Amino acid sequence: MTVLGIETSCDETAGSVCRDGTILSSVISSQDIHAHYGGIVPEIASREHEKRLTSVVEEAMQLASLVKGDLDAVAVTRGPGLMGSLLTGVSFARGFAQGLGIPCLGINHIEAHIFANFIAYPELKYPFLCLLASGGHTQIWRVSDLGDYELLGETRDDAAGEAFDKGARILGLGFPGGPALEEASRGGNEEEVAFPRAFLQSQAIEYSFSGLKTSLINYVKGRGGKMTEKQLAHVAASYQKAIVDVLLFKLRQAVDLTGVKTTVIAGGVAANNRLRREAERVFADCTAYYPPRSLCTDNAAMVAFLGEKYFLQGARVKTDLSVVPNLSLTH
Ligand code: KG4
Ligand code: ZN
Repeated sequence: MTVLGIETSCDETAGSVCRDGTILSSVISSQDIHAHYGGIVPEIASREHEKRLTSVVEEAMQLASLVKGDLDAVAVTRGPGLMGSLLTGVSFARGFAQGLGIPCLGINHIEAHIFANFIAYPELKYPFLCLLASGGHTQIWRVSDLGDYELLGETRDDAAGEAFDKGARILGLGFPGGPALEEASRGGNEEEVAFPRAFLQSQAIEYSFSGLKTSLINYVKGRGGKMTEKQLAHVAASYQKAIVDVLLFKLRQAVDLTGVKTTVIAGGVAANNRLRREAERVFADCTAYYPPRSLCTDNAAMVAFLGEKYFLQGARVKTDLSVVPNLSLTH
């Protein structure tokens, strides 16, 4: 079957076509306008989605060499995310599907991030542990089947992506902060600054990144806000390494706790090269997957792909299109 996926939960306007488990097209229009404001402005994000959706979807259809009549269903992210952005995507998708007389499915954005791994690795087998690290979430999930998830632990405060974004802002780097901080860290000595790593002594699967951010603020203040480019690289590399270390330490603890030796990483932070390299080392004795960077950050391919999986389940199809900004994976 052929499914059009639509993703507008944050600041990427994305459309994709999936047919029989294969992604035929994936178009992502990034709203660079937010860089002027140093962060995402929700009102602007929804207006930009509205402006871009039609052309993004048209392009996705063209790249897939299909016409609207070839579609069997539409899948759209209904949460979690920004209320206005989600509403724009869901209203568009609903109208689009109604016009064609085909069903429209509501998709959970977190679940879609996790399932992006199956696009890259069809051989991935249940059960597996997934570290989901994005701008809004940092969680470790045990995934036993489609729809069968157990939350093993999550962050108490900031998400890992937020830690990257806030760190980049404190260091005067650009937005989005993750890629900017990664770039600034090049050639830096990651042992230079001993940033704190929360909960390493504890068996509990939980994260905290707020102390790390405070520590960076104090470090920068201590230097009178002045740093050479080299020092900046050292600080960025040390800060990045502190995030990477705790993310993987807790995933490793979860592997040892559960005995599940297949791991995947998902979400925007999974695009980080340092994290990917370190994961190879930490999980050398496991089957560790990390999808291509384009499938880590927000995209509609993961939405179309998961939509098709649900649609093929028939009775379990999620036709709920209510928008839920704090939608969880387990209800
Ligand atoms: O999954 P995503 O695209 O959107 C959400 O669902 O939140 O994740 C966005 C987050 C942002 O905080 C961004 O700074 C971070 O992922 N990110 C990165 C990298 N690329 C994106 N963090 C670290 N290194 C990267 N290369
Ligand atoms: Zn996301």
